[in-house]
Amino acid sequence: MILLVGGEKGGSGKSCLAQNLAVFFAKELEATVLIADCDPQRTTSDWIQARNNDPKLETINCIQLYGKIRNDLLSLNEHYDYVVVDCGGSDNLALRAAMSVANHVLIPMRPKRRDIKTATHMEDMLSTCKMVNPKMIASFVITQCPSLPNQAPRILEAKEVCASFGINVLDSITYARNIYDDSEEKGTSVFEVEPDGKAANEIRNIANEMLAIKQEISYEFG
Ligand SMILES: Nc1ncnc2c1ncn2[C@@H]1O[C@H](COP(=O)(O)OP(=O)(O)OP(=O)(O)O)[C@@H](O)[C@H]1O
Ligand SMILES: [Mg+2]
Repeated sequence: MILLVGGEKGGSGKSCLAQNLAVFFAKELEATVLIADCDPQRTTSDWIQARNNDPKLETINCIQLYGKIRNDLLSLNEHYDYVVVDCGGSDNLALRAAMSVANHVLIPMRPKRRDIKTATHMEDMLSTCKMVNPKMIASFVITQCPSLPNQAPRILEAKEVCASFGINVLDSITYARNIYDDSEEKGTSVFEVEPDGKAANEIRNIANEMLAIKQEISYEFG
């Protein structure tokens, strides 16, 4: 499965989500995982380097890919259960190339107006890519949500605005929690820092919800 975590808004949590999902696949699903880091800032490559220096952590393979990465991703997908693609925050060739072969595109969005404004352009890109990759499933996932109960309407509103673009919006979300930021140190994930914590459950829920959509669709088509 090629899972692209993409979107053009910087800081929405793409790398954080890509890294934690990769650990979930490797550790809890015991799957083979490769992360393709397509961001010249190398956030995820640096995280992997720290991770793979620690023999106590599951090794996750990582490769840097830029530009026309379509064929690279297709051949890597033959060798790994999950290829997780972390694209940087801009509309670039790698993002479009990855979209043209991805099984699932996850687009993190903070429940903030400037972030949600980018949904229009994402919808444009997705519909263009669907012409060459009609089986692709795309989902918005609302991230870094405020946890105060009086802020709950903001989360709901963000989900409704995203859904109005005709793109799936996951029920599962992430709340703003320091553990996401802190766990990146030394190549760890929320699963190593607090395996039964709230953040680990948020990532599990996101992964399971996304994988269930894939299964429903494959079942439908036999
Ligand atoms: N749910 C969360 N709660 C708190 N902090 C978070 C959460 N998700 C991500 N972060 C933090 O927000 C910062 C930005 O996240 P991240 O680097 O994943 O964004 P990005 O979308 O990959 O950014 P870029 O577009 O620059 O690649 C990081 O410090 C990360 O640890
Ligand atoms: Mg990033």
